[in-house]
Amino acid sequence: TPAVTPHKSLVFLSTPRTDPVALLHDLNQDPWLSGSRTSRRRNAQVVTKAYVVEPGAVLSGNLQNTVDCQRAVATVQAQLAKLDPHACSFRIHAFPPSAQSRLLAAMEKSVVDDPIRLDPKQFTHILSMVQVYQYPGRGEGQDWIMTGVSPSFVPAASSHEDPEVEDDKLGAGDNAAVSRAYFKLQEALQRYQQDHNMTTTTTTTWNWTQAVALDCGSAPGGWTQYLAAELHCRHVYSVDPGALDPSVQDLPNVEHLAMKLQQAIPWIRQKQQQEEQQKAAKINVFVSDMCLHDMSSQVEFLLMARDCGILAPNTLFVLTLKCTTGYSQQSFDDQAQKVLDRLRSSSATRGTVLYHLFSNRQGERTLMGY
Ligand SMILES: C[S@@+](CC[C@H](N)C(=O)[O-])C[C@H]1O[C@@H](n2cnc3c(N)ncnc32)[C@H](O)[C@@H]1O
Repeated sequence: TPAVTPHKSLVFLSTPRTDPVALLHDLNQDPWLSGSRTSRRRNAQVVTKAYVVEPGAVLSGNLQNTVDCQRAVATVQAQLAKLDPHACSFRIHAFPPSAQSRLLAAMEKSVVDDPIRLDPKQFTHILSMVQVYQYPGRGEGQDWIMTGVSPSFVPAASSHEDPEVEDDKLGAGDNAAVSRAYFKLQEALQRYQQDHNMTTTTTTTWNWTQAVALDCGSAPGGWTQYLAAELHCRHVYSVDPGALDPSVQDLPNVEHLAMKLQQAIPWIRQKQQQEEQQKAAKINVFVSDMCLHDMSSQVEFLLMARDCGILAPNTLFVLTLKCTTGYSQQSFDDQAQKVLDRLRSSSATRGTVLYHLFSNRQGERTLMGY
């Protein structure tokens, strides 16, 4: 179809491939699309997404329209009837991507009694829902919606990045961010600073160069990099059983504790007890981007660290809450609010806020306070 934006087109192919992730891989390896090495001509810059749709599953309608989204979801549900929903988890591929939240809301409404498991990282199947725009030469009539359900056998990507983002470091040169998460912490702290006038009202607490930070679930190291190299924290405990990017690992103010947070908390307490200036060594910045099955565990870990005595009073905290159930914005907001309520009921916190940052994924919220 013609370009949706100057740089983006939807291209139809007939293919025996049924796995969109494998298909995407094939397309990006394709010599015609990527151009031959000698001619340097590229016919497509990059194919960012593949949707596998069934030729028979065509509706006339438009995914900008809520009712048509509900009809599209009903079609997909009929296609799902062949599968055992308890043995499957799904990732949704919507085109245009702006239709995704409308489709998720429609899905939430229609599957209240028997919800299907949506998991954008660990999925067995992909649900594709695609808007095909009317264009000259294809005959008069309405736009189409095409849908398909396809098994996916190929792991989408490493656990750290969205499958659509290339593995390369983001940015250039030595200052390149080692992961996209870097920008999430940057945005969170900048926004909080604006909203709370942080530097001027509480200068001593937020004097970054004096700060001792604990970064929980830190690999490959974007948040640690921001704390250590951008904010110049005095010391950053960077906790993750996984490896840090060497450029972060080698920073002089970074101490990588290659263990789980559950082990790191008593380890840090012991270290603090051994140090003479115990007060100075307390942690006053606690950040966590850990992937946890239950997002309320983020708060439990914060409380555990506080109860173990490794945190200074008024420790600034930044917690990523990753919702693993529900589909709509409202449902994500409600779940995050419950976690915040739990925190408020069990600890005297101040300045608590829940953000849905630009850098947060759809089902993610950022909880901050001190
Ligand atoms: C999304 S990644 C973090 C990305 C990181 N913030 C960055 O900026 O590059 C989540 C990490 O949490 C770690 N993780 C999950 N559970 C953990 C635990 N109990 N203790 C420590 N790390 C954990 C995982 O190993 C994974 O590397």
